[in-house]
Amino acid sequence: MNTEASNTTDQPKSDQIQPKASTVKMPFQKYKPFEPVRLKNRTWPDQVIDEAPRWCSVDLRDGNQALVDPMTPDEKMEMYRLLVEIGFKEIEVGFPAASQPDFDFVRQIIEEGLIPDDVTIQVLCQARQELIERTCEAVTGAKQVIFHLYNSTSTLQRRVVFNMGREEVIKLATDGAELVKKHADTLKVAGTHVTLEYSPESYTATELDFAVDICAAVMEVWQPTSDDKMILNLPSTVEMATPNIYADQLEWFIRNLPGRDKAVISLHTHNDRGTGVAASELGLMAGAERIEGTLFGNGERTGNCDVINMAMNLFSQGVDPKLYLADMRRIVEVSEACTKIPIHVRTPYAGELVFTAFSGSHQDAIRKGMTVVDTGGDSQWEVPYLPIDPSDVGGSYRETVRVNSQSGKGGVAFILEHYFGVALPRELLVEFSPIVQQLTEQKEGELKPDEIWKAFVSEFIEVEGPYALIDYDLTSKDGLQTIAARITVAENQLTVTGSGSGPIDAFIAAMVETLNEPLNVVDYQEYALNEGNEAQAICILALMDDQERKHYGVGISQSTVTAAFRSIIASINRKWR
Ligand code: KIV
Ligand code: ZN
Repeated sequence: MNTEASNTTDQPKSDQIQPKASTVKMPFQKYKPFEPVRLKNRTWPDQVIDEAPRWCSVDLRDGNQALVDPMTPDEKMEMYRLLVEIGFKEIEVGFPAASQPDFDFVRQIIEEGLIPDDVTIQVLCQARQELIERTCEAVTGAKQVIFHLYNSTSTLQRRVVFNMGREEVIKLATDGAELVKKHADTLKVAGTHVTLEYSPESYTATELDFAVDICAAVMEVWQPTSDDKMILNLPSTVEMATPNIYADQLEWFIRNLPGRDKAVISLHTHNDRGTGVAASELGLMAGAERIEGTLFGNGERTGNCDVINMAMNLFSQGVDPKLYLADMRRIVEVSEACTKIPIHVRTPYAGELVFTAFSGSHQDAIRKGMTVVDTGGDSQWEVPYLPIDPSDVGGSYRETVRVNSQSGKGGVAFILEHYFGVALPRELLVEFSPIVQQLTEQKEGELKPDEIWKAFVSEFIEVEGPYALIDYDLTSKDGLQTIAARITVAENQLTVTGSGSGPIDAFIAAMVETLNEPLNVVDYQEYALNEGNEAQAICILALMDDQERKHYGVGISQSTVTAAFRSIIASINRKWR
């Protein structure tokens, strides 16, 4: 048997790729599938989200709680200011009974009058007497407060953490609600309006009938009205199933909750399966009205619902997100500074690369789509590969195209046009783009606009070759232009002379005489590069030699005539090269 053949068939070479999945299995049997909700005639799949929910930021509590280094008081203040600026009307500002810095922060914003009248602060608290008392102390003096009471209701936690039956867990919640009610009455006398928010924590892991029972029992204590509702927050504390199951759980809950019109249904999703935003969106379709989440989804483990993502999803569907996200760079900056967690370059709507195309075909489609937008062809935004206009979040069209080895002519043309104001004729572009391609391959990475420009200059403008223009005199008589130009040829200086109907004709005539061969201008365009005193002209010109080969050359100068002469010299040098 031939050894080569046995290597490729019977005995794999040691460097061959081994498909492990066909021989070794992951221990998937360890896990059980999530039990779907047996819901008949579900209505949520037909719903369309056509208005923004009530947003509540939990950056300063859930987000902060998940940080390696929790925010310093200054960072908290910076984050708080940003959240108010963006337009959150409900902000969970901390867990004051559990943390002294949170307590101090709540006191500071109340005492320094930093809570706008239309903003309600929210404070988290467990259903325990001493914690409830301390929390009420923290919020004294605020105009309005959402008191967020929670206890875990999940089957698993009742069994392994609390060792409590359903009735005991309900009692824990209702006792807590009673206490908050008592304190709220005192706070009310001092001018603070208290809204109760109750979270059956780990709702997604709680039997649905029990979740309804415990929420109904808390409502019974609080006695909300349709004019003064309480908030029922149904958290996906750990995301356990596909978002459609969460939506089913919510539709079931809403259908079965007594006094549904006296409660605002709020969602608080986490992102363990990577579908926290999707779950919140389907949850809204299922009838929820309020969303808790954080900027860029910072939060426990894989994070919370990313409010920026969700709000921008609404925006991109023509729905007012009711949050002001136009200065996305600042939002990213503040968020990164406070959390010390960098935003991924592909974070929806905010990452550095989310509006960038490297692929040639994408670049081409974007360019064509943008041309339709620029000429006012479509009244609404429709550009291939760009779900929104980057300028709506402080970006620019320029960022949409970057050049690496996957890019093509379109990308190169785009960069020259949008960064340097140079529109190349197609033939020149066809000649130049393989040069860029080669450079990207050598570099094994992206070529920045300056590097593309440098390559363009050395290929078409400052072309190495025997000829250089030193200076020239042009005279005009009887409609005839005559030139005397000093040039260098290799090491030698000489003066060439010629006449023609214009400066270009005259200079070509002088060079034809010197070179002793025909030169025909077959392509010529000249235009201003930029405006103002520093205005420069660019001349792009092609000469045809006696063997019918075209040679492009480019010249730039403040004088249009000098730009043209330089382009002629560049083109002759390229011919000689
Ligand atoms: O994730 C969660 O369940 C929470 C609750 C306290 C609402 O953060
Ligand atoms: Zn949470």
